Order: sequence, then C-alpha cells, then structure tokens
Amino acid sequence: MTETKFTPRVFSGIQPTGNLHLGNYLGALKRFVDMQGPEMETVYCMVDLHAITTWQDPADLMHSTRELCAGFIAAGIDPEHSILFNQSQVPEHAQLAWIFNCVARMGWMQRMTQWKDKAGKNQQNASLGLFAYPSLMAADILVYHATHVPVGDDQKQHLELTRDIAIKFNNDFGVDFFPITEPVIEGAATRVMSLRDGSKKMSKSDPSDMSRINMTDDADTIAKKIRKAKTDPDALPSEVAGLEHRPEARNLVNIYAAMSDQTPQQVLAEVGGKQFGEFKPMLAELAVAKLSPISSEMARLMGDQAEIDRILARGSERAREITAPILRDTYEIVGMVGAGQN
Ligand code: TYM
Repeated sequence: MTETKFTPRVFSGIQPTGNLHLGNYLGALKRFVDMQGPEMETVYCMVDLHAITTWQDPADLMHSTRELCAGFIAAGIDPEHSILFNQSQVPEHAQLAWIFNCVARMGWMQRMTQWKDKAGKNQQNASLGLFAYPSLMAADILVYHATHVPVGDDQKQHLELTRDIAIKFNNDFGVDFFPITEPVIEGAATRVMSLRDGSKKMSKSDPSDMSRINMTDDADTIAKKIRKAKTDPDALPSEVAGLEHRPEARNLVNIYAAMSDQTPQQVLAEVGGKQFGEFKPMLAELAVAKLSPISSEMARLMGDQAEIDRILARGSERAREITAPILRDTYEIVGMVGAGQN
C-alpha cells in the first residue's frame, strides 16, 4: 500500500468522563494545538460513545462533553479551523465500527491491556461495549482516512490494532482503501505519571485527587499538589542518564520540559544540582502560568452553553461531509445494496 495516496489528515479524541488532567493536556491536547496549521486538516472529537462503555450519569455526561469542548477551545483549538464535534452526532463512526466488529478477531480484543485493566477480574460483568471499544476507536480514525493520530503512550496498542484492522479489511476485500495510520506519540510527556507514585500513570480514575493536576484546579491547589508530590532526597542530576531509577524525579522534569517546550536535557542543564525544595516552586509557578489562563477561559466559555452546542453542531456537519462518502464506499466494498450505489 502506498500511504501517499491519502491526503494527510489528523484525527484524535478524548473521552468526556470527568475532569481533564495534566496528562491529557500534555500528552494530547497541547499537541493537538501544535498540529493545527495549514499543512494538515485536523479533526478532534469528544468520544461520548466510548465514554458510555462504563456507566455515566446522563446529566454528568452532558456536562463533561460541553466542558471538554470548552477545554479544547480554551487550550487553543480553533473551531473555525479544526473540526470539533462529539462522536455520537456523526453516526458513521458507529456504523463503521459494526463492520470492523466483523473484521477484528476476538483474540485481538482479548489481548488489549486496557480491556484487561478496566474489566479486571470481573470480565463477565463488563459491558460488551468495553470489549469492542478498540474497534470503535479504529472506526473513529479510519472513517476519516486519517493518517496521523496524536495520542499518549497508553493508546499505542489500540493504534496498532487500528493498523491490523485496516490491513485485514484491505486484504479480505482486495482493496487499497483504508490507510495504515501513523501513531504520533511524541514529546517529553507521552506518559505523565501520578504525583503520588512514579510507577503509575496519572489518571482520572485514581481515587486520590492529590495524584493528578486537574485543568480546573486553582493556583493554590496546583501549588499544593506539586509541593506534596512524592520525590527522593537527592538533588536533580545535570544529565538525563541520572534520572534512571528515579521515576518521580523524571516525571517532574518531563512535566517541566513539556510545559516549557524544552527537552528534559535542556531543563536539566538549567536546574541540575538543585534540590526539590527549589525546583518544586519553579514547577508550580510554570504550571500555574500555563494552566490558569486555560481554566479561566474554560469557565468563561461554560457561561454560554448555547454557543458550545452551536460549535459542536457545526463541527458534526463538517465531519459528516468527510465520513458519509467514506462509509458509502465501505458499504459498497462490503456488498451492501443501497440506493444510488453499485
Ligand atoms: P482518554 O480519554 O483516556 O485520554 C485522552 C488522551 O490523553 C492521553 N493521556 C495521557 N497522556 C500522557 N500521560 C497520561 N497520564 C495520560 N492519560 C491520558 C491519552 O493517551 C489520549 O491521547 N481511547 C482514547 C480516546 C479515543 C481516541 C480515538 C484517541 C477514542 N477514539 C481515536 C485517538 C483516536 C481514550 O480513552 O483517551
């Protein structure tokens, strides 16, 4: 397959489940903003259908979807330029996911570490949607013929599965129809870790709020969480190699690097030799300077929900201009009889 036949297009999504945290921001949202530009079309989605693979209170889901939309815009996504919408309003995602449910194999899904982690010991009681989750994710991407998908490191396995689905579909039907997607997992913060435990990912589901920085935290809360972040007693090294076996130190340096658009080595050139007592206030100041304008803009945007709904509706109309013809072609390849086709 020649990947050049496909126009470069970026797609990514975030689940509207509760607060956005620093991991979502540095691992995904900030990079979505960086990828906006004249070279590539950018399509960003609030994946509400993915959210309901685990129970969501309907009123909370609506609130989180709007708040996430406000977060995208406050972080710098321009809804006039990028296509910004919620997944449920573009039915081709779920329609293509069904086709992919018939392409993907049970064994592929069973190997997904996120499935194993989320379903835990109680797989019999998990929703069928949670099991099929990666097939919907492949559909999200491939219904745009997207070529580039910026994500954090935890989504890597799902993107490999997306490639497997595209390859199997193309082989099964003898076509060169779906692109082989490039995961874009780049930068210093592809895996932001918990502030309480450097071996655990920063996550919405961690019971301790002290483990993460939420985009809606105020300046005092951010400073307190960083001050209390777990560290070791040594000074910071001057070289990246010195961060080996020091997961908490590495995490804080990576966060500083991603927030200041530097490499970890550049950061260590500046702060090497300092104790955490000196570094933590620098990090807190930087975090507050970067995050406070975003959270206050989110709050302002949430004051006009009708405007948010209008932006989402316009985004889904624009999205359907891309997805409807790709789904129609897919149906034709698969052999579905339909009006005006075949
Ligand atoms: P979600 O909603 O869990 O996370 C959204 C994005 O944030 C990244 N992320 C992190 N990055 C660095 N450090 C962390 N601690 C951290 N935690 C989360 C995630 O990697 C992700 O990029 N399945 C996806 C949503 C999705 C999607 C898609 C993504 C649905 N369809 C199609 C890309 C393309 C998810 O649950 O992300």
